[in-house]
Amino acid sequence: MLRLLAVSACLAKVAIATCPDDPEVDLCESTGEETGSGFRSSPWMALVLPLASARPKVATGLALALALAVGAEAVTCGELKDFYKSEQCCGSPTTELSNPVPGTPACPYNFNKPACNTAEPQTPRDLSTGATGSMVPKAATLTDAQANFLPLVNVHFHLGAEHKSDAYNNDTDAMAYDAASSGRRLASNPRPGFMCPTDTLTDAQMTPYTFQHCTGDVQVGKSYEVHYVHSSAGTDNDASDGMNADLLADGLGGAANGRGLLNPMVVVQGQIYQIVNGGPTVNDLLHGWTVVGHNNSVMYSGSTTGQSHDNSVCSPYVITWHVDKDCHQVSPESFDNLCKQMKDLYGMSVDLAPHGSRILVSPTYVVQSQYVVELMVRRKWAHEGATWRRSANRGKKGGYMHRHMDSKKCFGPVIACCSLLSDATLTFYDTGGSAYGLAKTRRTVTVDIPRRSLYFMTGASRSQWQHGIKKEHCPKERLSLTFRSILRTAPRAASSKGPKKRPSAQLRAP
Ligand SMILES: *[C@@H]1O[C@H](CO)[C@@H](O)[C@H](O)[C@H]1NC(C)=O
Ligand SMILES: *[C@@H]1O[C@H](CO)[C@@H](O)[C@H](O)[C@H]1NC(C)=O
Repeated sequence: MLRLLAVSACLAKVAIATCPDDPEVDLCESTGEETGSGFRSSPWMALVLPLASARPKVATGLALALALAVGAEAVTCGELKDFYKSEQCCGSPTTELSNPVPGTPACPYNFNKPACNTAEPQTPRDLSTGATGSMVPKAATLTDAQANFLPLVNVHFHLGAEHKSDAYNNDTDAMAYDAASSGRRLASNPRPGFMCPTDTLTDAQMTPYTFQHCTGDVQVGKSYEVHYVHSSAGTDNDASDGMNADLLADGLGGAANGRGLLNPMVVVQGQIYQIVNGGPTVNDLLHGWTVVGHNNSVMYSGSTTGQSHDNSVCSPYVITWHVDKDCHQVSPESFDNLCKQMKDLYGMSVDLAPHGSRILVSPTYVVQSQYVVELMVRRKWAHEGATWRRSANRGKKGGYMHRHMDSKKCFGPVIACCSLLSDATLTFYDTGGSAYGLAKTRRTVTVDIPRRSLYFMTGASRSQWQHGIKKEHCPKERLSLTFRSILRTAPRAASSKGPKKRPSAQLRAP
């Protein structure tokens, strides 16, 4: 505080030298008598006070206005003076301003919830066959691997499915609720969403169960959309653990705060579970998305949900959605264990009860169907070390091979090749590690590969030298089988197709 006052005094001296008038006098056209205080009548106190004050709003506002006065929104001294008086600042520098200081720009952000016709595409979207949408998203959607890279910050569930698919589309409960509730919704009486079919369940499968850990409307026979929320702002403050620790908490605060990111990337994975007596046991429903499998899932750009939104007031937050279109049955014990884990491991309480489901969003406010894309799930064989990729090359016109270096981004440190049908000679080109086709060659080395030989490239031959087979070194037909391990971190083309398998439960990062 002493130092602050000293600095203030220095500033005040400069101010006295260049602008001898008391701003209080100048701005208010008063004589200074109004305060009746010797302290305040000091000619520089009006400057010192706001600087030393705990709430220097007037000084800040004025300084801002003066700084901005050089811009397009220039304010004249007279306007400023009028403003100062009209705000009744004279003699009371602690008065809070009731209007924006002239020349200050309006806040560029609007924190009010948008009307749906000005909002970005919304969630929940109808995912049934043939369901339509009207909007083109501005945001790109994150992939399955990218979602799993982001920390899991919250798991919560909704009564019924907020989304709708061919598998979960029973709206009997939802219609009854909407007819009875005339819009008023209570947390103790959540709105049901779409349910999986119950007409195929036996009486035994419908036997009620007393839940020990889940609270609220959790019942056998009902369906629940579980939301696994991932956010780049995950509340993990210890970066040394590789960002993969789950630090769950009630609510969505962790999705927005955590590491202090104000513009987090958020992915919500939605999976629909129907509680069935004697249904499959799922031990780790807390990571249900990775342990149950989600091979019939889509991704699209949408919004947060929440029952304060409907088809007139929409959510302002754009996030990626991954939604599984199947109904997954689980035993009541498994579902209750989800609540137990949320409670015991993370001290959660509010989210042990189901949330209400937002009313399905009108096609006008959701993305067009071409932007609802099948979610590509990373294939298990693509994990590092899990398997090798084999490629066969059969050259009838001769076994030559252009010089190249196998991608170090995609493939592991050892490449094996079995060379069949005819003898050949490999030429190695020392490029000092460059994979560029026209890279300068320091020296070359040739290595004979007789037919029916197997060779391995590793070390410098893999990472420092390019290799190829010159035409004259293999004029006849040759068959080569090349084995490469695929790195877990390999970039993956979105279009690649193949057998889909769920990733291992342990896969938390690419
Ligand atoms: C839909 O839900 C209602 C209410 O729970 C139930 O009576 C009906 O059997 C369900 N329909 C099907 C096809 O499961
Ligand atoms: C998709 O997963 C379900 C279980 O989640 C399984 O029953 C089904 O066979 C899988 N389908 C394919 C094509 O892998």
